[in-house]
Amino acid sequence: MNHMKHWRIGNPITTGAIQTDIPLQPKLDLLSGDLIQSAPKKSPSTLDSATSTLDSATPTITLTYALAPTDQVLGLGQNLGGINKRGRTYTSYCTDDPHHTEDKTALYGAHNLIVIVGETAELIYIDFPGAVTFDVGFTVPDRLTITVHGDSTDIYTMSDKSASLCFQAFRKLIGKPYMPPKWAFGYFQSRWGYKSEQDLLTVQKQFADNQIPLEGIYVDIDYMERFKDFTVDTANYPDFKGLVGRFKQSHQYLIPIIDAGVKIEKGYPVYEEGLKGDHFVMDPSGKPYVAAVWPGRVHFPDFLRPETRAWFGDWYRYLIDQGIEGIWNDMNEPAIFYDEVGLAGAIDKAIESKGKNLDIDSYFALGDAFKGLSNQEAYYKRMQHRYEGQVVSNHKVHNLYGSFMTQSAFEGFAKHLPNRRPLILSRASHTGMHKYSGIWTGDNSSWWSHLALNVRMMPSLSMMGFLYSGADTGGFGGHASAELLSRWLQFSVFTPLLRNHAALGTRAQEPYEFSPDHTAINRQLISIRYRLLPFLYSEFLKAYHEDALLFKPLSLVFPGGRASQIDDQIMLGDSVMLVPVISANQTGRIVHLPEPMDLVCLTETGETVTAYKAGDVYIPYPISGVQFFLRQGHMIPLVQTALNTAGLSKSVVTWAGALGDDAKTTKTLGYTWYDDDGISQDVLELGPQYEQCQIAIQSDGSVQTKLNDSKHQLVTAHGPKRVL
Ligand code: GLC
Repeated sequence: MNHMKHWRIGNPITTGAIQTDIPLQPKLDLLSGDLIQSAPKKSPSTLDSATSTLDSATPTITLTYALAPTDQVLGLGQNLGGINKRGRTYTSYCTDDPHHTEDKTALYGAHNLIVIVGETAELIYIDFPGAVTFDVGFTVPDRLTITVHGDSTDIYTMSDKSASLCFQAFRKLIGKPYMPPKWAFGYFQSRWGYKSEQDLLTVQKQFADNQIPLEGIYVDIDYMERFKDFTVDTANYPDFKGLVGRFKQSHQYLIPIIDAGVKIEKGYPVYEEGLKGDHFVMDPSGKPYVAAVWPGRVHFPDFLRPETRAWFGDWYRYLIDQGIEGIWNDMNEPAIFYDEVGLAGAIDKAIESKGKNLDIDSYFALGDAFKGLSNQEAYYKRMQHRYEGQVVSNHKVHNLYGSFMTQSAFEGFAKHLPNRRPLILSRASHTGMHKYSGIWTGDNSSWWSHLALNVRMMPSLSMMGFLYSGADTGGFGGHASAELLSRWLQFSVFTPLLRNHAALGTRAQEPYEFSPDHTAINRQLISIRYRLLPFLYSEFLKAYHEDALLFKPLSLVFPGGRASQIDDQIMLGDSVMLVPVISANQTGRIVHLPEPMDLVCLTETGETVTAYKAGDVYIPYPISGVQFFLRQGHMIPLVQTALNTAGLSKSVVTWAGALGDDAKTTKTLGYTWYDDDGISQDVLELGPQYEQCQIAIQSDGSVQTKLNDSKHQLVTAHGPKRVL
């Protein structure tokens, strides 16, 4: 194995992503071709040019790699495109863009990891806080061009025989991920527009009346007083603390939102304290920078300063004191509707246009002046941070903002709720933020293509260490159909974050909002999540401790062949292959089986296992129940469902096992079952806690087990259920 190499160009700004000290390679001189000479010669994907325009006003550093026709390019975390990133361009520049259409190049995360998989696997990680673009065989099909928009950067490279080894090495480089509490694996309901305490109680009651499991409700900006962080609108939420307590008595959690911008309002304590403590990002004249988000004009805390992180982190105590144990940090790219200069420019344009005969050019220019008001690069250039002893524009360190906000939340929770794992989600992220929280995939839409995108994105997020993640199930923007929601649930029951969330003004998409038949279908799907939950938690812990991927592309497990091209089937852990239905009006789908596998079909209370041969097969996949394939020689635990994680128990365990075609010879099925107390932080430092479970079936049909003292049964494709 080749070890990770660390290169440096110029004087880079620290990103905080790297946790392991890798000695620097001798000073890198781009023009002498150092980086090129260091690249492995045998590999088809060698770095073949590295250039820079360091003297220009907008310096860039460009690395170009040759791609062989069959090379796959993996990585880039939260972005659009396929699992194999070839044929597209991507930008790492955290962006609040709710329209994740095909033509976009950036989402909310900045994840600069690329692994080129050919005869060997070549890893390139660009440790840089500003914009980076990746042209992955788009302009020139056999070229990968990485452009760093700055004059200084750190670069990490390594070469190994498999992509899995590269990803594992990368995870060691960036450190252990955030570990959520076990209850964070439950089902959560959310909606922008639950206006009052009464709305939340109605949702809770509907779930209870319909016997649908519910772990908690996310509480969107509606709970705040005029969208001010760390306030509660007491007219609509008269007793927030009491409400949180009542939910907790039912073993349910409320997860409020916190936005990056702090409303400018005299007498509002967060604003007043922020001003007094000099905590806000400045404008070029040294005054607090003014921009607008939900509450109108805001200042942004300068999360890049440790003092500001500590100050803002302490404010989470306002919620913790009311019983809150989870939070979602939002609008932290940061999202900006407009700033003073931007808005004035657009208004001037409108005034200038008054009374004029607007032709094709001037009409569109007028529209664009307003349509393009949000999130302009010019705003980020005006915002000034104080970071590591220098004043630096947000544009140069743009991708760090959301991560540092979330670090502030993590540290605030650690201080005020010691040794208890909180649920933390962030929308914006940079590599390395995985230490502090999970991410959701942002404002998707109720589109089938976004269900497919969710499937493709999960492995890429695992590669970046964002294990706790998932999409807004059912879609955030637009109107969900009953069918889309149920199909999405059939996939999301496997993602660590399972949250149904929707935008203001969209059709109600709670699981009971369609028809009685669909309520029953959704109840069954969510109940199945709870049957799978101890298994999912175990796989998550395994990925945590072993620096492994939780979700993997098929190509990592079945390299070469057709499996490498498939991106609507993914692996969960080592044994489960997910085969979701991702288009409308289907009663099944074609599945590619790279090897013989067993199909497991789950209902709320039952399960069947059917052996399949390798090849392409059509499987019926009805809208009710959950199906997946299990690799032969593996088994996974299923428990009895419950209405929340507090109700789960391991006292009765059903093992779904895949014995293989020739069940007559002795077979041993095994599972390493990871678990812990599900809530404390320090338990993670003890190292992995697991039980080795084994069932050996002798050729005469007798069974030997090494299992805990629960009641067990084994379900396989061969013969009836065995009670062990
Ligand atoms: C952003 C978030 C979304 C939230 C909305 C209102 O768009 O991404 O999840 O509902 O803001 O707070």
